[in-house]
Amino acid sequence: MARITASVYTSHVPAIGAALDLGKTQEPYWQPVFQGYDFSKQWEKENKPDVIFLVYNDHATAFSLDIIPTFAIGTGAEFQPADEGWGPRPVPKVIGHPELASHIAQSVIQDDFDLTIVNRMDVDHGLTVPLSLMFGQPEAWPCPVIPFAVNVVQYPVPSGRRCFNLGKAIRKAVESYDEPLNVQIWGTGGMSHQLQGPRAGLINREWDNAFLDKLIDDPEAAASIPHIDYVREAGSEGIELVMWLIARGAMSDVNGGPKPTVKHRFYHVPASNTAVGHLILENN
Ligand code: DHB
Ligand code: FE
Repeated sequence: MARITASVYTSHVPAIGAALDLGKTQEPYWQPVFQGYDFSKQWEKENKPDVIFLVYNDHATAFSLDIIPTFAIGTGAEFQPADEGWGPRPVPKVIGHPELASHIAQSVIQDDFDLTIVNRMDVDHGLTVPLSLMFGQPEAWPCPVIPFAVNVVQYPVPSGRRCFNLGKAIRKAVESYDEPLNVQIWGTGGMSHQLQGPRAGLINREWDNAFLDKLIDDPEAAASIPHIDYVREAGSEGIELVMWLIARGAMSDVNGGPKPTVKHRFYHVPASNTAVGHLILENN
């Protein structure tokens, strides 16, 4: 059977992608950001996944106000990089895993979560920046990726609790897939940032680090954080953090198993308008 071996959490700041693509990683501003991912790139080499289930949000690239799916699973064979602001990044196309994605759609929808099935969509910095941070600049991404887009842009957005429970259903789906695949689940976006209005530029180190503590040691408490707390404490775009709860809900300990091991934890301010947070949790 397929197994979820680890979860990865990371911010997806578009300027990080631009810094990488423009060869600025060693500049004093960016060097400390990329250094936080040196361990992660090595860890990915030593723990190469067969498939990544990548939870991210679209930023008006594939979707618009015409159609706003709350949860959309990419069941296509491939996905092209695109972006709303900086233009498409010069990164490899993303190869999907239609068989596993279809199996997950079947299982999760039968478990009462309404997913939108998407056979064709472009993927933006929400998905490509995390891939770049974890794998650098390869000719091709090292494994297939199932894109899973969550609406955290246009209200109403899903609650942290619903995301957490959805993670549990995704775990059940993966673990009932009849092939011995090593699957990583990634939760991306966050940490505190606000891009608009009088509070633009908001960063809240204390709240971010308390969120990381909770996510690691008390995921139930993290899942109970109400929507308004994210917005008040972590800014309007800090709500992206609910996506981390999908990955956390798919881990063993919240499904009757042992606690995960914290392989890596990193926090840095600033990167563009955003606090960068990153965690790797390994199932035992
Ligand atoms: C920024 C951060 C984001 O998460 C995003 O989607 C767009 C911009 C920023 O820091 O500027
Ligand atoms: Fe974003």
